[in-house]
Amino acid sequence: MQRDSVHGIWSSQFAFILAATGSAVGLGNIWKFPYITGEYGGGAFVLVYLLFVLILGIPVMMAEILLGRRGRRSPINTMRMLAREERATRLWCFPGYAGVLAGFLILSYYSVVAGEVIAYVFRAAAGVFENQTPDGVRSILYSFQGNAENLLGWHTIFVVMTMLVVARGVRSGLEKAVRFLMPLLVILLLMLVFYGMTSSGFDRAVRFLFQPDFNKLFYRANESGSVVFTLEGVWVALGHAFFTLSLGMGAIMVYGAYLHRDASIGRAALTVALADTSVGLLAGLAIFPIVFSNNMAPNAGPGLIFETLPVVFGAIPGGALVGTMFFALLLFAAWTSAISLIEPAVAWLVESRRWSRARAATVLGMLVWMLGIASIFSATGVTLGDIATRIVSLFVVVEHPLRGGIYDSNWFMLIDTLTTRILLPLGGLTVVLFVGWRMRIMAVRDEAGFASRRLFRLWYLTLRYLTPLAVLAVFIVGIIEGFLR
Ligand code: TRP
Repeated sequence: MQRDSVHGIWSSQFAFILAATGSAVGLGNIWKFPYITGEYGGGAFVLVYLLFVLILGIPVMMAEILLGRRGRRSPINTMRMLAREERATRLWCFPGYAGVLAGFLILSYYSVVAGEVIAYVFRAAAGVFENQTPDGVRSILYSFQGNAENLLGWHTIFVVMTMLVVARGVRSGLEKAVRFLMPLLVILLLMLVFYGMTSSGFDRAVRFLFQPDFNKLFYRANESGSVVFTLEGVWVALGHAFFTLSLGMGAIMVYGAYLHRDASIGRAALTVALADTSVGLLAGLAIFPIVFSNNMAPNAGPGLIFETLPVVFGAIPGGALVGTMFFALLLFAAWTSAISLIEPAVAWLVESRRWSRARAATVLGMLVWMLGIASIFSATGVTLGDIATRIVSLFVVVEHPLRGGIYDSNWFMLIDTLTTRILLPLGGLTVVLFVGWRMRIMAVRDEAGFASRRLFRLWYLTLRYLTPLAVLAVFIVGIIEGFLR
């Protein structure tokens, strides 16, 4: 069966790989991966995450590309059409709708962090970090993050940048830019890793990242300070495998919709996953030597890259230039990811509502911008407890602000958990169940176009059994744990 995409087609398989890599490689690899690795104790977390990329990430990515290419529309309409074709219920559209919601929620905080990256491009260029101590770098970060108006300005700039590209269509320019700038980012990361090798913390960093200590993953201090067993870290690793590969919300599906028929789905997915994983590991190898050489805390949280890398940029000759380039390339990586976060929603509005791309991008951009304000206040230190206290005090006199438990977390943590740990895995689960159990195997085999029967069987069986069981197991354990607490 042949369908055409109303949104155009990639010029080649390589162009698709570049675009998908542009989507996958982003803040998730360089900002998020190091700080969650730090929070969940290092090596064992990394190992579990790598395992999830292998048994979940790659099969799900292939399933998403396959569905997208077969349906050739936005994820919502693709799922609707394919479900009809298989005489299945419309409930299979769930990953389409959940994906639009997840992409929108993720982008609302993603663009706040990307905004901070823009600010750091200028700070590095201005030489602000020269000869700063780690404490100095940290206080620069804190005073920056304490200023909501400042953050809002940068956030606004990033939202506008993203929507400008989306309004014009994702293909023009994206290929060329990714082909050139992504390798440059890798070179810069390699330079930082080499610099790390010369520092005293390198051995400890390598041990931290690659020597699994499962006690550090499974035992964590709770609020009252006692150490308890928990599988939370495993759940976070699962979520991150989806997040970093842009899976579970239709981003790769919508890019797959623009892929031509004779491209190899397996090779494309493997290439993207390999590139994405390498960048994450390189980022870890760049950042943790700085952490250990300077006796910093690996579990500093979301500010980790802003606290560590500038220390190096301030210490090495030519650091202002290297730092500027690094943050500029990181900004670029975030940009190509952000575009893919909103593309499913834009494609859907264009198809179903007959909106122009420009109109869809403008409306969505304004919504993302508004919701982002909530994440800005998370960065300035406003907790859910503060918000609840404010609301309650409208009605009654509140003696003490609400503290403890969920009140101590913030809006950013709330939507990050909701999207990464729940919506993305559920979306991915639905996709593999549809391909593995609902589509006719003939249709799957035909669309996947594997040259080798053996490889097809391996992928198909993984998709049918291993992948869904792994997601379900983590979910069920997580829910039970939540109830026991
Ligand atoms: N993968 C990107 C990153 O690591 C973020 C991203 C882009 C994403 N598109 C996505 C995450 C879709 C989840 C779903 O920075």
